[in-house]
Amino acid sequence: MKIHVFKNKEIASEFAYTEFAKNLEQGAHVFGLATGGTPEILYQLLRESDLDFSNCVSINLDEYYGLDGNHPKSYRYYMQTQLFDVKPFNTSYLPDGTDTNVQSQIDAYNQIIAENPIDLQLLGLGVNGHIGFNEPGSPFDGQTSLVDLTANTIEANSRYFATKEEVPTQAYSMGIGSILKANKIILLAFGPKKADAVFGLAEGPITVDLPASSLQTHPDVTIILDEEAASQLSRDSYIFHE
Ligand code: GLP
Repeated sequence: MKIHVFKNKEIASEFAYTEFAKNLEQGAHVFGLATGGTPEILYQLLRESDLDFSNCVSINLDEYYGLDGNHPKSYRYYMQTQLFDVKPFNTSYLPDGTDTNVQSQIDAYNQIIAENPIDLQLLGLGVNGHIGFNEPGSPFDGQTSLVDLTANTIEANSRYFATKEEVPTQAYSMGIGSILKANKIILLAFGPKKADAVFGLAEGPITVDLPASSLQTHPDVTIILDEEAASQLSRDSYIFHE
């Protein structure tokens, strides 16, 4: 695992952008994408770039159960407005949050992932160490599932909704097993609230209690942090960029 630490999230996101551009240039074709506040600057840089994703495929990590793609808080809507409306991909997959036939939605998403091996997977990080919506306790070989969100994830994500009661309590999520099959993984984490989870993922034991610690088992992971998110790491574990 390579860990890069930057003065702030703006510079860190520029580094992430460079990694994206480099991978695209080197032939990456299937991009695993993430939502949340963390990748917003990266998506802005991608929107403003001259990179062309029109021959590429994107597969998102997750979608809230019960929200359709036109709902402003759905992850489909987020992806459209953050990236796809300006930088369309040939095909963009997200789970269908309105599909109440849970098993068929799970099977369909697993098939999409199996047919489109992910070259580069982008990840954010939950305050409890979740990746995608794989909450603590999720198996490291798991595939797509309908997840019951934990109280602290609902609390953390309520900042994107008018009230906490509006946050869906479940979500479809790609499993950790599928995430770990990606050829290369880039995880972004910014701000002091992520410092504990960052410490766990980088220097803690590999445990299902902290889903992101599973990344220690993957051969090609790049962690991109700002100083606040890196505040608990031992100094010799990362590269600091002035
Ligand atoms: C959400 C998403 C994750 C995201 C994480 C962090 O619940 N399911 O994919 O990485 O939480 O979100 P944020 O970047 O807004 O802090």
